Amino acid sequence: MEHLINNRVRNIEISGIRKFFNMVAEYEDVVSLTIGQPDFYTPQHVKEAGKRAIDENKTTYTHNAGLIELRAAAAHFVKKKYNLTYNPEDEVIVTSGASEAIDIAFRTILEEGSEVILPGPVYPGYEPIIKLCGAKPVYVDTREHNFQLNAALIEKHLTDKTRCVVLPYPSNPTGCTLSKDNVAEIAELLKDKELFILSDEIYSELVLEGEHHSIASFSECREKTIVINGLSKSHSMTGWRIGLTFAPAYLSKHMIKVHQYNVTCASNITQHAALAALTEGIDDALPMKKAYGERMEYVYGRLKAMGFEVEKPNGAFYIFPSIKKYQMSSFDFALKLVKEAGVAVVPGDAFSSFGEGYVRLSFAYSMELLEKGLNRLETFINQLENESVFN
Ligand SMILES: Cc1ncc(COP(=O)(O)O)c(C=O)c1O
Repeated sequence: MEHLINNRVRNIEISGIRKFFNMVAEYEDVVSLTIGQPDFYTPQHVKEAGKRAIDENKTTYTHNAGLIELRAAAAHFVKKKYNLTYNPEDEVIVTSGASEAIDIAFRTILEEGSEVILPGPVYPGYEPIIKLCGAKPVYVDTREHNFQLNAALIEKHLTDKTRCVVLPYPSNPTGCTLSKDNVAEIAELLKDKELFILSDEIYSELVLEGEHHSIASFSECREKTIVINGLSKSHSMTGWRIGLTFAPAYLSKHMIKVHQYNVTCASNITQHAALAALTEGIDDALPMKKAYGERMEYVYGRLKAMGFEVEKPNGAFYIFPSIKKYQMSSFDFALKLVKEAGVAVVPGDAFSSFGEGYVRLSFAYSMELLEKGLNRLETFINQLENESVFN
């Protein structure tokens, strides 16, 4: 009967990150540097707000778009932080995580045959949804461009079928960000084009140096941009499932239909916790960001000292060294590393074929664990290098 299952669903796969994570769960004494999940607890005042919501029986459905107070707080947050202007009444939707936000955005704008431009390597959450819509991912090779999309690269891939350009910065898996000039050039290129921009800014609070620049802050692109954000990374709330979309009213009024028939509304209890996060906790990310910055310097320094070719990240909590010199696929490298040295990293091909030849390390782990993992990695590569000398 499996042949009766929707072809598009049969043809997508479980994310390579999860696959590898599940696989390494079988090995003992493994230092796992695989998961994109902050190692901090959700701030206490946010947890208290969630508990209070339960005690006060805030357990009903809410407005499909989310509590108006929360939408207002979210609009205020992005205004203050990124100079984005959205009307909470009809331009903000509270979703079940950024994942759902991506889903409703793509399902609202894509049709059979639409093309979607994405940087490669990239977070694996876009391609399957694009394909489920019958649309086509068009990857732009950013490996020679410090993993950054730019106007010239985008222009080369534009066709009359291009319906959307994805700007996922700060980037998972590379940790790179876009400069203001770069975003301005992309805005200039796209402003008159008949297409949408999906700007996934889930790591916007974790720009390690400088500021986050949203393309929606450029008025010429605001009307065609859907900004995706949420609290998973900024407030260490991955399991609470709160995402956000910010989009002009003419777009939001269609996205809300997809959202309504998908989940009705985000959890009411969680929305109350999110309200605390976006009012009393607007700077909750700062101490976490400081810690990620210190860890990034440490991990980057260690990898460089080991001889890895690696870009210095400036956002999120990932680093993406090249393993090409070991002449193995990223999957074989990661498997050998976990089996022989007890360190788990994510093979780069989980982030599209453009990630082949790299591995992703997450530094959302304690310094102690990072040190242990990197010591093991160092021993492993020393051994690899010795093996290749003697073979
Ligand atoms: C770039 C990017 N977008 C979206 C998400 C999904 O976030 P959420 O957990 O809020 O669904 C992730 C999660 O890792 C991510 O890295």
